[in-house]
Amino acid sequence: MTQTKITLHPDDLPKKWYNILPDLPTPMPPPKDPTDGPSRLQNLPNIFSKGVLSQEGATDRFIPIPPAVQELYIQSGRPRPLYRAKRLEQLLNTPAKLYYKSEFYSPTGSHKVNTAIPQVYYAKQQGIKRMTTETGAGQWGTALAYACSLLKMNLTVYWVKAVADWKPDRRQFMQLLGATVYNSPSNRTSIGKKLLKQNPNHHGSLGIAIAEAVQDAANDPTAAYSLGSVLNHVLLHQTIIGLETKKQLQQVNAYPDTVISCLGGGSNFGGLAIPFLHDRIKKQTSTRFIATQSEVAPNLTGEYCYDYGDYAEQTPLLKMCSLGHKTSFKPIKADGLRYHAAAPIISALRHAGLIDTIIYPSNEEYVFNKAKLFIQTEGFLPAPESAYSIAAAIDEAKKCKKTGEKKTILFNVSGHGFMDMQGYAEKLNIRS
Ligand SMILES: Cc1ncc(COP(=O)(O)O)c(C=O)c1O
Repeated sequence: MTQTKITLHPDDLPKKWYNILPDLPTPMPPPKDPTDGPSRLQNLPNIFSKGVLSQEGATDRFIPIPPAVQELYIQSGRPRPLYRAKRLEQLLNTPAKLYYKSEFYSPTGSHKVNTAIPQVYYAKQQGIKRMTTETGAGQWGTALAYACSLLKMNLTVYWVKAVADWKPDRRQFMQLLGATVYNSPSNRTSIGKKLLKQNPNHHGSLGIAIAEAVQDAANDPTAAYSLGSVLNHVLLHQTIIGLETKKQLQQVNAYPDTVISCLGGGSNFGGLAIPFLHDRIKKQTSTRFIATQSEVAPNLTGEYCYDYGDYAEQTPLLKMCSLGHKTSFKPIKADGLRYHAAAPIISALRHAGLIDTIIYPSNEEYVFNKAKLFIQTEGFLPAPESAYSIAAAIDEAKKCKKTGEKKTILFNVSGHGFMDMQGYAEKLNIRS
């Protein structure tokens, strides 16, 4: 019988995160200040906790996971199973072997918990009393609310209005965990007030919500801002996904020919792919890496240039593949894929020719139909963002059917869709 569920004992949870910065093909271009205005770099300690700032430019290849964070990782269900998608393979009649990591088993529904826990842990150590953050899909806000609840920390969330409007359950979940949630743009910051004055029905964007959360933290010495993607420390924490997966694949003597995941800011893609990108860079393996995106915000196709992380230009300039920090994007159901730029680490790897991208149409029917095949064979309900990973895995497996190649395809199901049913109903025409 084929082993379809590959588990790790909690004792085998990786004890260190992997930091790819010293192994990048060329050194990472440093963050910098614009030529005029106040120094954004000098303001960083007023915004972020010391713990994450020290990890941002860390040069050690492996960084120990604090024992208290390991304990909370286990509390949150890590290590998570890796599955062989045998039933999906049979449906597709493909010679490819499909494996997927089950980040959907997270208590709040996504991989975002993997960085929420250490970020709150480091802030707490420093005596910080309140975290501020943005959220797009609502998954990051809920993950941070979970970590704040377990570690007894206050939390203020600025939530992109276009998404908040259709996900009332997520708001209640965040509130249940003790968070205070405001729609963004809000009347609580000068940036939000200005935008609401121009347009009282403003949809908001991740760049605007980040700007509000950063401003809130900068104005309160007892608060720290926390970002759910993009930055080096976030991708570092997320490598727990790929490190576990490597150990699991070793158990079944498998190694991926193709690694696939969806990409908004880059944290779940990076989390899965970076430990395998290490092998590609250092051991000259031939694995192909595919980041899946929406036509609405294909940031990996953007210019590799210095740009701001937020709409209001409060962050330092980071070298990223960017569509421009003032760009507004049409709302989609996979809102977590709607950010203007890809993480600096991912952008550098893309620039080095190590990451391909597949872009799916903005009406999303294609990806939701592929997710339906996954639901009906594997039985798990993926988040709309994860549907983009599944679509590419299926498309690659179908190509193998044509060529007869027995490729091993690894993909990440970054979250569950239990609070996204309206999206499924709308896109797949399900009537109640
Ligand atoms: C379930 C899920 N997957 C993927 C993403 C995309 O973000 P990232 O590229 O940082 O993984 C999000 C963002 O909200 C998400 O909620």
